[in-house]
Amino acid sequence: MNIIVTGGAGFIGSNFIYFELANHPEDRIICLDALTYAGNIASLDSAIQNPQFRFVKGDIADKACINRLFEEEHPDIIINFAAESHVDRSIADPGLFLQTNIIGTQVLMDACKKYGIKRYHQISTDEVYGDLPLNRPDMFFTEDTPIHASSPYSASKAGADLLVLAYHRTFNLPISITRCSNNYGPYHFPEKLIPLMISRAIAGQSLPVYGRGENVRDWLYVQDHCSAVDLVIRKGRIGEVYNIGGHNERTNLEVVEAILSELDKPKSLITFVTDRPGHDLRYAVDPGKISAELGWLPEIKFEEGIKRTVQWYLDNRDWWKNILGGEYQTYYDKRYGNR
Ligand code: NAD
Ligand code: DAU
Repeated sequence: MNIIVTGGAGFIGSNFIYFELANHPEDRIICLDALTYAGNIASLDSAIQNPQFRFVKGDIADKACINRLFEEEHPDIIINFAAESHVDRSIADPGLFLQTNIIGTQVLMDACKKYGIKRYHQISTDEVYGDLPLNRPDMFFTEDTPIHASSPYSASKAGADLLVLAYHRTFNLPISITRCSNNYGPYHFPEKLIPLMISRAIAGQSLPVYGRGENVRDWLYVQDHCSAVDLVIRKGRIGEVYNIGGHNERTNLEVVEAILSELDKPKSLITFVTDRPGHDLRYAVDPGKISAELGWLPEIKFEEGIKRTVQWYLDNRDWWKNILGGEYQTYYDKRYGNR
């Protein structure tokens, strides 16, 4: 099969490409990525050696570029990972999120409609469900939880999901959607909590924890996400939404303390800073549907995943030091400079 992976130079997309090349050597993977600040071609260095892999630089919202790619590659499946993905940036500049996350999705699906496709798969997020209270550990997001987004990022992802479902109902486009909890692992851009804290702790810098660090996320090791998406695109039912979650809930403070302990660094590096506006309290996903239908279960517990992740950042300092030396540092200084 010919599979187009959009956003494959980003965190989850690059891990997914390696997963597919290793597990389905018979398939051809074409990565389309605009190489925004979050896209890093260096993350695909080993894939580029593989004759079953092609990289194309392009914007998912650029209709001419997308149509050209469909005419060249005749894809069987398209998996849309491409997105503006950072909540804090969406608070600073919502417009770009609507353009990429919603219009980009529409352009991709219009090409699928025009040229035909076996499946269009949308990578969505548990954030479309809003948040859960901290004092109700019995509550989880299911596929039937109402959409209730909190940030411009999650609203743009929710808008895209609604559009995908509408293209299925109106045009009979063969779609599926997965909504995943927080990922962590190799190639994670160091503006997100875990890689930010690892890279700063290694450098002995202060660790900016929002509010009191009580917010809870459900952490999923990225390879577990990749195996779930792989199952859904090959065996999942058309027209369906599947939640993916790790059953690994931790407060942000617990996460930062686990990183400090792995690196043998002092807790005095933790600095409590002004909270994120509209900060979601707790995410927790019920993966019962994908487990029952497709037999998927997360394999990596948080204790093991965080060890592996810290080790990856220790072993791959050039990868993140190159990022920290560039445009990202200007953004970080603007955001935290006076704290
Ligand atoms: P990321 O920010 O690391 O990567 C996004 C990639 O998309 C980058 O390579 C970037 O260059 C590319 N991109 C951005 N705009 C583009 C455009 N207009 N055209 C083509 N490429 C473009 O993101 P990530 O963390 O890997 O997330 C991937 C997907 O998974 C996103 O859709 C995100 O909403 C979703 N998701 C992420 C998480 C998480 O914890 N990271 C959890 C659930 C869902
Ligand atoms: O749940 C899935 C979502 O997870 C994805 O859809 C998003 O693309 C992804 O970025 C992630 O969103 P979060 O907002 O949960 O991730 P982030 O790493 O930005 O923050 C995780 C938690 O850590 C959150 O409660 C905010 C907090 N935080 C974050 C940063 C960057 C801090 O305390 N300090 C920080 O500096």
